[in-house]
Formats: sequence, C-alpha cells, structure tokens
Amino acid sequence: MAVNVAVVGATGAVGDLMRRVLAERNFPLQSIKFLASEKSVGKQVEFAGKPYTVEAIRPEAFAGVHIVLSSTPSSVSKEFSPIAAKAGAIVVDNSSAWRMDPDCPLVVPEVNADQLHHIKKGIVANPNCVAIPLCVAVKPLHDLGRVRRIVVCTYQSSSGKGAKGLADFDAQNAAFAAGQPVPAPSAHRAQLAGNVITLDWTLDPNGFTEEENKVVNETQKILGDATIGVAPTCVRVPVRVAHSLAVTAEFDRPIAVADARAALAKAPGVVLMDETKGEFPQPIQVEGDDRTFVGRVRKDPSNPNALCLWVVADNLRKGAATNAVQCAEELVKRGIVK
Ligand SMILES: NC(=O)c1ccc[n+]([C@@H]2O[C@H](COP(=O)([O-])OP(=O)(O)OC[C@H]3O[C@@H](n4cnc5c(N)ncnc54)[C@H](OP(=O)(O)O)[C@@H]3O)[C@@H](O)[C@H]2O)c1
Repeated sequence: MAVNVAVVGATGAVGDLMRRVLAERNFPLQSIKFLASEKSVGKQVEFAGKPYTVEAIRPEAFAGVHIVLSSTPSSVSKEFSPIAAKAGAIVVDNSSAWRMDPDCPLVVPEVNADQLHHIKKGIVANPNCVAIPLCVAVKPLHDLGRVRRIVVCTYQSSSGKGAKGLADFDAQNAAFAAGQPVPAPSAHRAQLAGNVITLDWTLDPNGFTEEENKVVNETQKILGDATIGVAPTCVRVPVRVAHSLAVTAEFDRPIAVADARAALAKAPGVVLMDETKGEFPQPIQVEGDDRTFVGRVRKDPSNPNALCLWVVADNLRKGAATNAVQCAEELVKRGIVK
C-alpha cells in the first residue's frame, strides 16, 4: 500500500533528517507534504531531489493523510497530534508529550513493535534519543537473563537541542578554535565548546533532570517492566551529532561475555564492535548511520550478574527520525494503516 504522509516540523533538525530517511528507505509514498510554523510558510525544502513548499500546520492540512511524522516542540504536539488523529491519521510523534500516556504505545521496532497493535488515541510515541539505543542494546541481553537494574551515564551531542543547539555550538566552537572570545550560550545552558554540561536540561523536583527522568520512565515502559531500576546521569558533551552511553546492566543471573556478544551480534539494528581488533563505537563514525553501535562488552568486576557496555547511536536518526520511519514502515507492513 502507498500512503499519504505529512512531515510536521519539517524545517527542524529532526524534520530535516526525516525527509532524508524517508527518501533513503524508499518509503512507499502516494503523496507527501511538509508542515511547520507560520514563520516557515513558503520556504522550500528538498525531498528526493525535488523542491516542496512548506505549509502551515493547520487542522485542514491533515485531510486524507494516513501517517503524520511529527517533530515539533511538546506544546505544539499536544495541540496538533490529536487534531491529526481525529482527521483519521496515525501520528508518530517525536516529542515527549505522549510518551507516558498509557493509551499511546512507546515503540522501538526492534524491541516492542507488537505494541503498534494497541493504538487507542491514534498516536504512537517515539521515545527519547537515549532510551532508544539503550533499549536496542539491552533487549538482546534481557532475553538471556531478565535485566534488574541499569546504571547509565550519557555523553549527549549538541544536536539533541535541535537546530538552535547546533547553531549555538557551532558559533562557540568556531570562536574557541580560533582563540577568540566565545559568545555567550544561546541554546545550551553553559559554554559547550571545550566543556561538558550536566545541567543542560530542566531540573525536576526529584533532583534529576527532565532528561534523566525520561530515560528512567521510558526504558521501563519500552521493556515492559516498571520494576527495572534505572540510575541515569545525563551529560552534554562537545560533539555535534550522536549520543554515547556508558551502560552497566545487572541481570537476574550471570551472563558470559561470549554469550552476550553472540546475542548482540545477531540482534536487529545492532552493530557489535570488537575492541580486540581496535574497534570501538565513536560518534564521529556513527553520525549518518541508522544502527546502534555496541562495544567494550565486559563483566562488571564488582558484580557477577552485571555487564558493562559502550553504546553509540545517531540521535537525529535512530534516536528520532529513523525510529519514527521504522514505526511507519511497520504500520504499513502490518496492515495497521488502511
Ligand atoms: N534533536 C534530537 O536529537 C531529538 C531526538 C528525539 C526527539 N526530539 C524531539 O523532536 C522534536 C523536534 O526536535 P528538533 O530537535 O528537530 O527541534 P528543532 O530543530 O527546534 O525543530 C522544531 C520544528 O518544529 C516546528 N515548530 C516549532 N514551533 C512550531 C509551531 N508553533 N507550529 C508548528 N511548527 C512549529 C519548527 O518549525 P519552524 O522552523 O517553522 O519554527 C521546526 O520545524 C522535539 O519535541 C524534540 O524534543 C529531538
């Protein structure tokens, strides 16, 4: 079946990748349109080698659309995703607005694509850009021994803050590299060039950042077990694209490194790297790739039931656009979109 698609937030960092990923994967399209805010109306965006004019996000824009791929701020998604769903579309929504709604499945196709059969509100939530690669890497191990607790420290790129984050970082970086005074941060919370920032997100009342709380809640929802303990520390690092994760995962039984490596080697969407051959996942190499890279698989010397891993994925692709397009592909393949 070829479908009518609307890409909402088409001018943003994720929206830009959404266009590229749809074209690269040859998504079965009947028609496509690109929507953004009033300020972008009339702008030209390129898709599959052709120019398209950006339209305003308005209720009537969703008439006849089968799938909406939405990447707007949460406040915009809260207003427009239900309008699109009411018009008959299934919305795959990248914002955090719907992720913890019990009536909206939170889907990583390699992990829980079956949840796509339980769309009650017409909205599928696309998870956070840390929760996605974390679950892709941990799920094959969770199938060997149930995961009980995850300690994760992140090394998140500037583009996690969208187009504005990247513009801020690029301006800072150019000045920093030239030995010039670095401009005051405009999107990041502090200077990112030559620095790391652990409070680049809003602080929640429990002392964790909003980002850290998303990692906890979404990981439990995707893996389908609210008793899994998750202890996150999220950190922004001076990298343009791709998030890295240092993961220690504890299971209900010991898992041999060889068994873990064998499971990861055949896991969907995973590229397993071998440090004995000098291979290790690096953001600069992972940028532009749709897969989740895993390396440095080690036994935790302090806990016989735990393994340590190093995980890297492109936050704009697998952490956002690619995961959403994969959800859309499953909606078509499984006959959920009619
Ligand atoms: N960046 C990441 O790594 C990442 C990963 C996972 C999820 N997400 C989520 O995906 C969403 C988009 O993120 P992003 O990084 O792409 O942000 P971005 O670069 O700031 O892009 C935001 C997009 O939303 C549109 N928009 C903003 N206000 C609007 C309004 N009032 N009405 C209609 N459209 C509006 C913008 O259009 P204009 O250009 O016209 O303003 C732009 O197309 C966010 O909810 C974010 O949390 C981001």
